[in-house]
Amino acid sequence: MANFKKIKTADGSFTLYHPYFGESYHSVSAGAIEESLKKFLLPSNLFWKAKRQDEIYLLEVGFGLGYNLTVTAVKLKEVNPNLKIHYFGLEYRIVPLIGELELPPPYGEFYKKLGENILRRKKTSFEVEHVSVNILLGDARERVKELRNLNFDAIYHDAFSPKRNAELWTLEFLSLLKGIMKEDAFWVSYSTALPVRRALWELGFKIFNTKPVGRKSPGTAATLKGTPASDNVYPLSEKEVKKILTSPKAVPYRDPCLCLSREKILENYLKEVRG
Ligand SMILES: C[S@@+](CC[C@H](N)C(=O)[O-])C[C@H]1O[C@@H](n2cnc3c(N)ncnc32)[C@H](O)[C@@H]1O
Repeated sequence: MANFKKIKTADGSFTLYHPYFGESYHSVSAGAIEESLKKFLLPSNLFWKAKRQDEIYLLEVGFGLGYNLTVTAVKLKEVNPNLKIHYFGLEYRIVPLIGELELPPPYGEFYKKLGENILRRKKTSFEVEHVSVNILLGDARERVKELRNLNFDAIYHDAFSPKRNAELWTLEFLSLLKGIMKEDAFWVSYSTALPVRRALWELGFKIFNTKPVGRKSPGTAATLKGTPASDNVYPLSEKEVKKILTSPKAVPYRDPCLCLSREKILENYLKEVRG
């Protein structure tokens, strides 16, 4: 089992450092809870939807420590007490600390229940309060295929960074996600990497910035036919659009078989960029 280091983030909540990926699970400078709220929940349009519908389908690429799920579940319940959330999280493997890292009110109680189900009862599908939780363990590229009959209201793309976790940021993987999104759904992520934005562009998404959190750069929101309801989401500048269209680095990562190693994906990308 990898040796995860516990780190305090800017908003006082804790995250873990993943020794193999060489990255922390959440932004240390923005704060883990702040990031969940401002990089994922707010730009996802789910507040807007929760005021208008009683059921929400949410997919997350990278369940991780379950923070995004916890923040989303607690905050959306505040705007619609009748809400039912169907959550699906893609994840390699469970970290044995879920629910044990302390989250501040109002999140702690939900988070503890999440941890009890996953760690003590060893469940990957269960109900917590108003949420049905389904964690699909294994390579997300394989497990996502099982969701082909679903239609998600939002997708949180929270893998490690594109350079370190390339297999989850390819044109082909994003295309699978596109196929299971409602037309008005938002795909949201902290990343603004050019290969990712270019792939989204080629897949026909409208692309937006999401407001920076802390000292960090903006994130990305993308939709096929949705309209952002949050002022956390704003259009790309002309310069940003030009970069997506003309920068030599704006080449999507490719994984035609959905089976290449992340090293091979990066190697092929660099070959393409260097010509
Ligand atoms: C940044 S963390 C997610 C943090 C999480 N969203 C949260 O709120 O706590 C990224 C997660 O992606 C998972 N991951 C990376 N590559 C994967 C793959 N190919 N298939 C499934 N999960 C993967 C990692 O195990 C890690 O838990």
